Amino acid sequence: MIMTEISNNIREELAELKKFTATPGNGVTRFPFTEEARRACAYLQQLMEEAGLTVRLDNSGALIGRLEGETPATIMIGSHFDSVGHGGAYDGIAGVVCAIEVARLLKKSGKKPHYSLEVIATNDEEGARFHVGLFTGKVLLGQLTVEDLHKQTDADGISVYEAMAAYGLKPEEIAEHQRRDIKAFLEVHIEQGPVLEAADKQIGIVDVIVGIKRVSVRINGRADHVGTMPMHMRKDALEQAAKVISKIGDRARCFPNTVATVGFLQVEPNIINIVPQTVTFTVDIRGVDKAAITSQYQGLVADLEQMQAASGLTYDVETLLDAEPVVMDAYIKELFAASCAVRGLTHMQLPSGAGHDAQIFGEQLPAAMLFVPSIGGRSHCPEEESRAEDLAAAVLVASDAVQTLLAGK
Ligand code: GLV
Ligand code: MN
Ligand code: MN
Repeated sequence: MIMTEISNNIREELAELKKFTATPGNGVTRFPFTEEARRACAYLQQLMEEAGLTVRLDNSGALIGRLEGETPATIMIGSHFDSVGHGGAYDGIAGVVCAIEVARLLKKSGKKPHYSLEVIATNDEEGARFHVGLFTGKVLLGQLTVEDLHKQTDADGISVYEAMAAYGLKPEEIAEHQRRDIKAFLEVHIEQGPVLEAADKQIGIVDVIVGIKRVSVRINGRADHVGTMPMHMRKDALEQAAKVISKIGDRARCFPNTVATVGFLQVEPNIINIVPQTVTFTVDIRGVDKAAITSQYQGLVADLEQMQAASGLTYDVETLLDAEPVVMDAYIKELFAASCAVRGLTHMQLPSGAGHDAQIFGEQLPAAMLFVPSIGGRSHCPEEESRAEDLAAAVLVASDAVQTLLAGK
């Protein structure tokens, strides 16, 4: 009965939230500090208020619903509301909707908890607009300065600072929003891969989240006429970039359980009869072993050095994100497993190859994640889907753990 009610809520709410996109009919595109973001938050605010929460927009652009306990120390649960470009209707936002269901169950129980509860819809987790990501987590843990907000710009040259100000936030005060009252962070998220489905498990308990190093590389060449500049005299940035990029995948294959991807590439001036002057590309390196990430990064820099020495073209590298691999909290994982056992839900532990807010929180405080099977393992695409019933099962498990934590046990 309760499962049916939760599943129906989740199904309806996700169908509604899917509408807040910049690309209707072509996947969900909900970038940070946009009209779509504002409209999704307005809808979420309504849901949070119905669940009995007092709602505010914090200075990172995250929406937070709070239920006051006997003491102000806070157990936080949630996920992100932003999406990648042309992404799915589940990544992030499903975890927000599940967290609201956890609050509803608490309200139904009629108990005033010992600790306070916050449900959070975080902002700019993906990094799709500014290539960085995990924004709210970093703000709440005091990791960002005003200078950081000026550094990154989107495709139109708008900085995070400018985007925040235009959205009505206060970028100058970014460092003042560090939270010291959060006792634990929990997140429900779709798996985004095929492991749970293949193993026929209803619930995944994350044991470790991969470390991520994201860098932006620029190769500086020279624009010339493609017909008149001889091959031995030209400085073709794309030709040199291609040589460096071609080694990135093979290097990653030398390390177990690591991946490396060039997901963004920009050629300037990008004209058929001009030798490419500048190429900018991102490299995203991930794995559960920090040393393997560092080795791959060093290999990339060595290749760039070699390219510079051999061709005379120069390069610049800028680090965008350096998130550590993070082990999830053992006690909360036990609470999850115990709840699955009591409720007769099949479960397994697995690592997360995707980045999550829980890894930023997990660097400093107890954090834990539940995964829900992704149909066909598809994610970061419009076909992304999880069953509402599976999300509802995760709500019950998360709720059991949250209620134990809120009681101060
Ligand atoms: C976010 O989904 C990421 O893993 O990049
Ligand atoms: Mn996500
Ligand atoms: Mn994602």
